[in-house]
This record gives sequence, C-alpha cells and structure tokens, in this order.
Amino acid sequence: MKQLVEEKDGKLYYNGYCLVDLAKKFGTPLTITFLDIIKERILSLKDAFENAKKTTDYKGDFIYLNANKANYGKDEIESAFIFADGLETSSFYDLVLSLKMYEKYPLFKDKLIVCNGLKQDNYLDTIIKAHNDGYNIITVIDDIYEYEYLKKENIDLKIGLRIHLSSLYEPEVPDDRFGLMEDEINYILNDVKNTKLVLDTIHYHQRGFDYEEDKFFKNFDLAFNYYIKARKMYDSVIYFDFGGGTPLPIDGEFDYESYAKSILNHIKDVCSKNNVEIPNLISENGKYSQKDSTVNIYKVVGTKNTGKYPWHIVDSSLLIALPEMYALGEPMLIKPINNLDKKMVKARLAGITCDCDDVYFDKNKGYFEIPDVDDPEDNYIGLLGTGSYQNSMNGKGGVHHCMLPEEKDVIIFFKNGVELVKVRKELQTIEDIYGLLNIKH
Ligand SMILES: Cc1ncc(COP(=O)(O)O)c(C=O)c1O
Repeated sequence: MKQLVEEKDGKLYYNGYCLVDLAKKFGTPLTITFLDIIKERILSLKDAFENAKKTTDYKGDFIYLNANKANYGKDEIESAFIFADGLETSSFYDLVLSLKMYEKYPLFKDKLIVCNGLKQDNYLDTIIKAHNDGYNIITVIDDIYEYEYLKKENIDLKIGLRIHLSSLYEPEVPDDRFGLMEDEINYILNDVKNTKLVLDTIHYHQRGFDYEEDKFFKNFDLAFNYYIKARKMYDSVIYFDFGGGTPLPIDGEFDYESYAKSILNHIKDVCSKNNVEIPNLISENGKYSQKDSTVNIYKVVGTKNTGKYPWHIVDSSLLIALPEMYALGEPMLIKPINNLDKKMVKARLAGITCDCDDVYFDKNKGYFEIPDVDDPEDNYIGLLGTGSYQNSMNGKGGVHHCMLPEEKDVIIFFKNGVELVKVRKELQTIEDIYGLLNIKH
C-alpha cells in the first residue's frame, strides 16, 4: 500500500505533492482531491484478495463495490466506478445517480449494483425498472415491506437478506436499527420458493471499529450462519456480502493480504465443516475507497492569547470541515505542513467561525504542536484524509456556519500518463451565498 505522507526539507508531502506549494499556488482555504488514490486503494485491495485466493485455493470471486454514501462527488464516484466491480447504493437518490454513471459507461452495464437502506416505493420502483432494463441489480431486503412489495411484481429480481445482529455493537452503542429479525428471515427463507424472486445474497454490515480480529470474526460468524442455512435451502444463494468497515491503511502498515487470507481460509473451513459450497464475497467500501483521497489546507491568519496556550486561528472552520470528528469522535490527521524544520511550540488551533467548539488540539496532550516562527501567519495546516463522509455530513454548495465560504476545490489526476489539474469550484462568493439565501445584494 502506497505511503501517502512524507516529510522533506521541512515540508509535508502528500501523495508526492508538496502541500504548501499547492496552498501557495491555489490559495487557501483549499480542498484537493487526488483521484488516483481512489484507484490505487481499489486495485490494491482487489490484488490482495486475488493473491490470497491463489494461496488459499479459494475458488469464489471477490467483488469490490464502492459504497457511494462515503462521498457523493461525481468525479470520486466515477473514479471508483471505473476500477471497482460495481456500486452500492443506500437511497433512491443514490440509485438514480448510480444509474446515470452506468448510462455514461454502457460497457460496464454488467457491473453489479447492490441496493441497501430502508426502501420506500420510489426506491423500489427504480430498482424494478433497472432490473427490467437489464441491469445486474441486487436488492438487499432491510424490511419485510420491501419483500412483500417486490414479491407482488412477479419478476425474477435478485434479492439479498440484511441480517440484523445487535451483538455487532458495543454495549454502549444503541441497538442496530437495520436488518431483518430471525423470524422475518425464516419467513422469507420459507416463502421465497413460492415467488419468482431469486434469493442470492446474505448481507451484513461490519460497523466500523479499529480492526480487531476476534471481534471481526465473531460478527462474521453470526452472519455467516445465515449463509449456511440459506445455502442449504437454495442453490441460488451464491454471495456473502460483508458490507463496509474495511480496515484503513493507517501509516501503510496494515497487511491486507494476510487479512484476505484469514477471511478466505476461515470461510473454507466453516463451509467444509458444514458441507456447503463457498460463496463469492462482496465487499462494500466507503471510507476505505474515499477517505485518503482528499486533504484540506488552511493558513493561519491570526493568534489570540486567551487560553493556556495561544490560539492559532485558520482561515476556515475545522468544525465545518470535520463533522465526523466533532459529531462522532472520528480521529483525523491534522498537521502543520511547512516550517517543520523549526522548533515546535505548544498551541491550540481554532477555526474562524464564532463558535467556541470550532477548536482543535490533541485531547490527551491538551495542545497542538505548531512551528515556532517569527510570523505565525507563515504557518499552514493540513487536514489529511477528509474524503469520506465529511461532504455527506456537512453538505456541498450550501450556506455554512458564519456564512464562511466553501473552499476552492481542486482535483488532480493522471490521464494517459499526463497530469491533469482542474479547479472544480472557485472559493464560494458572497453572491453565491446570498443567492442561496434569496437575498438581493
Ligand atoms: C450497508 C453498508 N455498506 C457499506 C458501508 C460503508 O462503510 P465504510 O464506509 O465503513 O466502508 C456502510 C456505511 O454505513 C453501510 O451501512
């Protein structure tokens, strides 16, 4: 797995690019997305499973889906779609967007679409239409209503069952609200033979936690028992979909090939003990596909000495940029990106909104280390790995806290070996913001 972060001559490089040079070239506040990181992530996980399949002699397929919910950027989904084996959708709107991507690439029409989430009629009707139009689509039933609705259509639509496993969750986290209960699963298993629906998938979602092998396999087995049961009843059950939550390549150290081998060996073992065929595996990768592709870069624009350590205020909002960190406690990598060869001093970071929660420092240490320079406004700060869920949670093209403008948005990628740099959006203007608010300026 490619190492993304490097320090050279007092400057931080990301994906081979000097971040402070990019900040000076484009101005701040700035968001840069390196689309090729998405491609690299997808291909390297697929490679790890392909190698593991060879060494474990696993005859099933490994199917990599992009979980669109992690980032609805058109370029991000398109980059993922080209290299992945298909898309995973979580709403009616997501499916409509995905179908547009399939229309753009008719050669990829056979790539899989897996539809998750609770489904209202507009979502179900769009699934039915996509199936009738020849798309390779699986509806993962999350609620019995969806099953009854689809059954009435009398078509050979492929369905999966989302397994509700409350034991997946830490005791302090509220119950899983997704999936089918045991009696509902049994009802469908007994009833589906009387319908034209084709049961082909057993699905669960490994909610994200730092990867711990024991916990992972405990949850995996709880769901896999349903695969065994369903497969014994129906030869059509050929996929086991273990959702998202793929471990992240923290510092490039996670060994994906061993991870893949342990999953494949485990499945072979369980299947041989139970005398059932091994499944093809589906993996729905949101954060893993998208997180590391994006960085935000801010400049220090002032200091205030109102606390234990001086506040260094950046030209945007940390609170807006990192909703997952503020709402869910998700750890994020926040670092100075220049003057790294200078002595470091203890400080705290603040965003430029009026919000007293718009601050950042290491909670354990109580401070943030920043280069000690004569003019603090020479310092730039990088938020590294903001490509997943931040956009979905804070919205794009809207009006934000203190009406701060959205960052200039740049993408960088290679096409036929040529580097392309595109400004996707300039810094939001006051006219853009007033327009959204319907205010005459
Ligand atoms: C059903 C399902 N699949 C996949 C994902 C993507 O998970 P991650 O971003 O951890 O890969 C989610 C996330 O909520 C999910 O609910």
